[in-house]
Amino acid sequence: MDIQRIGVIGAGQMGNGIAHVCALAGYDVTLTDISQEALDRAIATIGRNLDRQVSRDKITEAEKTATMGRIATTLALADLGPSDLVIESATERETVKQAIFEDLVPHLAPHTILTSNTSSISITRLASGTDRPEKFMGFHFMNPVPVMQLVELIRGIATDAPTFDACKAVVDRLGKTAATSEDFPAFIVNRILIPMINEAVYTLYEGVGSVASIDMALKLGANHPMGPLELADFIGLDTCLAIMNVLHDGLADTKYRPCPLLTKYVEAGWLGRKTGRGFYDYRGEEPVPTR
Ligand code: CAA
Repeated sequence: MDIQRIGVIGAGQMGNGIAHVCALAGYDVTLTDISQEALDRAIATIGRNLDRQVSRDKITEAEKTATMGRIATTLALADLGPSDLVIESATERETVKQAIFEDLVPHLAPHTILTSNTSSISITRLASGTDRPEKFMGFHFMNPVPVMQLVELIRGIATDAPTFDACKAVVDRLGKTAATSEDFPAFIVNRILIPMINEAVYTLYEGVGSVASIDMALKLGANHPMGPLELADFIGLDTCLAIMNVLHDGLADTKYRPCPLLTKYVEAGWLGRKTGRGFYDYRGEEPVPTR
């Protein structure tokens, strides 16, 4: 099936990146959110990130203008009706996603493929609450979306082959690479990455190293572009905790227990970069470790 129009639900950190790369690849994009302010912020962010690509000669000024022209924003979910593919990228809470699908589905054409950018929730369970489990799958981008090469494609138990093939063709047209994952908690990337981050928090909690020494150790000792605590702040500590809980509950193995220190940061509202404070304090000129 030929996909031309893509609907993106949620204009946050991931949603704006998804709209950016889809529009840059030539798709007509409709971006929706419940907040006009979030939509305005997303358009401004996309503009800034495209400028960054122009200034590094990755794209031309004309491509930037054309890309911005292919993105429409709306507060009405119903405006996603004509989409060939919908990528849901709302808050990582199952009840929120289910409510969105319930509102959206009556507006969709029968051929529309419905996907979720969820980083850990069961695709099969999300699909079963819709009218089209065979046309439903996981479409998981990495942050920052315009830079990261990978997309995880996750088939639910009912996903049919044409749906998978159509999504794979979209990943190819975005110039990205697909990794296929079975539908088990947190899929591949987060099954491995988030427990590593959780272990870094335990390393801090037990006093083995400071924030600075843990991050330096992994950057210089394992060639990671960011240390694990810096990366946790980048992803969002609430998201890291939510994924640990999905692993802990879904696999019923104590090796996935979230570190109490991670829970404490989230309880404090110190969620990382997005709130100005996490394992680092971002409110000054330079990030300063908070422990
Ligand atoms: N949009 C467009 N371009 C961007 C960008 C954005 N949002 N952010 C960075 N860039 C570009 C820069 O312009 C630069 O381009 P060139 O290579 O052409 O010069 C390039 O990306 C590198 O950026 P910087 O030089 O500013 O910074 P850096 O070298 O420190 O790299 C980084 C930044 C790419 C984020 C790097 O630190 C990195 O790869 N970090 C790890 C990211 C990671 O692990 N992401 C996965 C998180 S897990 C996830 O997403 C799954 C989940 O569900 C939780």
